[in-house]
Amino acid sequence: MPREIITLQTGQCGNQVGEVFWQQLCAEHGISADGILEPFAVEAAGDRKDVFFYQADDEHYIPRAILVDLEPRVINGIITGKYANLYNPENIYVAKDGGGAGNNWAHGYEQGSYLAETFYDMVDREADGSDSLEGFMLLHSIAGGTGSGLGSFFLEQLNDRYPKKLIQTYSVFPNSEKTSDVVVQPYNSLLSLKRLTQNADSVVVVDNGALDNIATNKLHIRTPTFVHTNQLVSTVMSTSTTTLRYPGYMNNDLVGLVASLIPTPKCHYLMTSYTPFVAQGVEASVRKTSVLDVMRRLLQSDNMMVKTAPTKQSCYISALNIIQGEADPTEVHKSLLRIRERRLAQFIPWGPASIQVALTQKSPYVQTAHKVSGLMLANHTSITTLFKRTLDQYTKLMHRKAYVDQYRKFPIFHDGLDEFESSK
Ligand code: GTP
Repeated sequence: MPREIITLQTGQCGNQVGEVFWQQLCAEHGISADGILEPFAVEAAGDRKDVFFYQADDEHYIPRAILVDLEPRVINGIITGKYANLYNPENIYVAKDGGGAGNNWAHGYEQGSYLAETFYDMVDREADGSDSLEGFMLLHSIAGGTGSGLGSFFLEQLNDRYPKKLIQTYSVFPNSEKTSDVVVQPYNSLLSLKRLTQNADSVVVVDNGALDNIATNKLHIRTPTFVHTNQLVSTVMSTSTTTLRYPGYMNNDLVGLVASLIPTPKCHYLMTSYTPFVAQGVEASVRKTSVLDVMRRLLQSDNMMVKTAPTKQSCYISALNIIQGEADPTEVHKSLLRIRERRLAQFIPWGPASIQVALTQKSPYVQTAHKVSGLMLANHTSITTLFKRTLDQYTKLMHRKAYVDQYRKFPIFHDGLDEFESSK
């Protein structure tokens, strides 16, 4: 029985990342830009397309995706582009005034109350169309106004309406070194973090700072753009869902996958690393890809999608390696022993001190130059660096009461700034 997942994309970042993700899923499952199964893909490939797609009456594959934005540019690009016929038009919402949320979390959150009915219609229709809905995946950034504010509203509503369904987010954190980024991002991030902590079951953290570093240092792209970084995010998203889409012995559903990584519900912020990185037209510098090599590289901080500052006490709470390609289980076993001997990963003293490994199939339709590739999903204590960074930036901004009047204009702040305090 399929365990379906409904994807929600909000704001510029959420929709741009989502666009690349769906392109990649289509390629991996042999589905054309119009949603038709490619002639070469007709034979059963042992994949489960129905986790992320359903079939329309005319056999078109349609993504279980809901696209929402408060300004039209990105979604217009999607619905007039090559993949225009892929999505269900009923699941696309662009606000009529089209003004966006002005990088203001409170503005985005407020808009949520106006479009709640439309949102329920779309979500309930998708949920009713599933046989055995497993949960939701939210794609958004936490720094702007729509993905963060409207995304927060959606998280609260989903949790309320579907309390038994799993909610996972791919949350893009701002590049802390880029001064040109949103000035009020510490406010928006802090307010979003409260909802991510209280209303999501699992948050996969994607740090734009780390993505820029990977694109520059590993892929040698001098000035990385979102086109490059979104390819990285999409690779992480598609790989972390391969065990669901190509079922094997373990981690065949999202609940199982998340349960193995999150031993205690509040510690649900996950980091990822990937190797070897590739981008269209750019060959990465990794040459040899044995299982040991891949597993060793996954533990290196320069392959992580989050920039943290680990201390001597920092350690893994849990870790799962998803290894794709020509991997032999005995090689995996040997590599795990080697990693333990060399003490390459420190674990918490109160849990099973080992990396879990899932060997999965690669899509037969997407050619890759490497024999083996891998993704690590990890629950690591150094993620606190990110919270501390956000809090420090928030404290500096709030100390000057900078821009708070922009927030006071919206109902949630009419009676004061308590919402900031409670988020803090
Ligand atoms: P408003 O513009 O206020 O309506 O909100 P929004 O949610 O649409 O804003 P946006 O998604 O642009 O959020 C801004 C943050 O997201 C900044 O930190 C950007 O660097 C980041 N961002 C925007 N687009 C992308 C993208 O395509 N990929 C990545 N990785 N980050 C993005």
